[in-house]
Amino acid sequence: MATERYAVETRGITRVFESRKGFLFREKTRTEALKGVDLAVESGSIFGLLGPNGAGKTTLTKILSTLLIPTGGRAEVLGHDVVAEAEWLRPRIGLVLGGERGLYNRINAKDNLRYFADLYGVPVAERERRIDEVLARVDLSWAAERRVEEYSRGMKQKLHIARGILHRPQILFLDEPTIGLDPKSARETRKLIRSLVGDGVSIFLTTHYMFEAEELCRDIAVLTKGRVVAHDSVPGLRHLVGGDRTLEAESHGFDDREVESLRHLPGVSKVVSEEYGPWLRLTLRVRTSETTPDDVRGALPGHPDLMVRERQTSLEDVYLDLVEEEAA
Ligand SMILES: Nc1ncnc2c1ncn2[C@@H]1O[C@H](COP(=O)(O)OP(=O)(O)O)[C@@H](O)[C@H]1O
Ligand SMILES: [Mg+2]
Repeated sequence: MATERYAVETRGITRVFESRKGFLFREKTRTEALKGVDLAVESGSIFGLLGPNGAGKTTLTKILSTLLIPTGGRAEVLGHDVVAEAEWLRPRIGLVLGGERGLYNRINAKDNLRYFADLYGVPVAERERRIDEVLARVDLSWAAERRVEEYSRGMKQKLHIARGILHRPQILFLDEPTIGLDPKSARETRKLIRSLVGDGVSIFLTTHYMFEAEELCRDIAVLTKGRVVAHDSVPGLRHLVGGDRTLEAESHGFDDREVESLRHLPGVSKVVSEEYGPWLRLTLRVRTSETTPDDVRGALPGHPDLMVRERQTSLEDVYLDLVEEEAA
């Protein structure tokens, strides 16, 4: 199925979770976390899996990193089956799951990495050099001898990433790498992620931050309720929802007739209305340059407080459109 061209390739991956609730009257619950995921991710780039909470991002990440077995379908990572060839894959995969867990707080960063180096089978002769190298890589050499309990949330996340690359994996899975970080640490973490690709590592990351995917990723797949609803480059995704221009009109209120008249302007593929405090905002997705802010002003006479502006369609717009369509 896969060639080395693809870092990840999946066919019809499903995952069902069955659990029992209650003590006396045990009730069976069944969650279909993944409902047939087909995905092909090219090697040597940053790929982003974007989706709201509960979409199945962590489940898919765990399957691809051999932590969890799929209920159905097939997945290959680096051209090798994640179930049948898990042993071959494990030393070639790095995984950083979100959250605080997985580090030993009572010992320093170096000792943490020594522990994981041994676990990952890093040759003892290389161990110290490798640890110094990854600590420098994530900008933590200065804190190498400090106990992890003294680390900030951002420093811990960097140390997690250092742990993830210690054994020089060919592909690194990062599940929500900036969750819970302050803006400055989040930015540093994104910078670090970008620099890793320069080392030839393929990166598969999940996020529910649209701007993060837009900033980092060449290709993005949107996962909603266990299904991939879109997979494309950022410009491709913009095109998909009909137009890379967005016009916004704001006033204290519009009637249905006015909204309808905007829908009939040339190249307008979608008009969404949304309340913003005392304001009503109409957002128009526009495919051609025929419709300008002036045309919108012309279609909405009698609004002295009207404000119209044009901007490029952001990935957030696209993402919300896709997630909305899925819910509809
Ligand atoms: N171990 C589990 N047992 C039961 N349900 C689970 C388990 N793990 C995940 N789920 C369910 O699967 C769905 C997808 O979860 P998850 O992959 O964590 O989504 P995401 O990472 O996108 O937020 C959710 O409905 C979640 O409740
Ligand atoms: Mg998750």
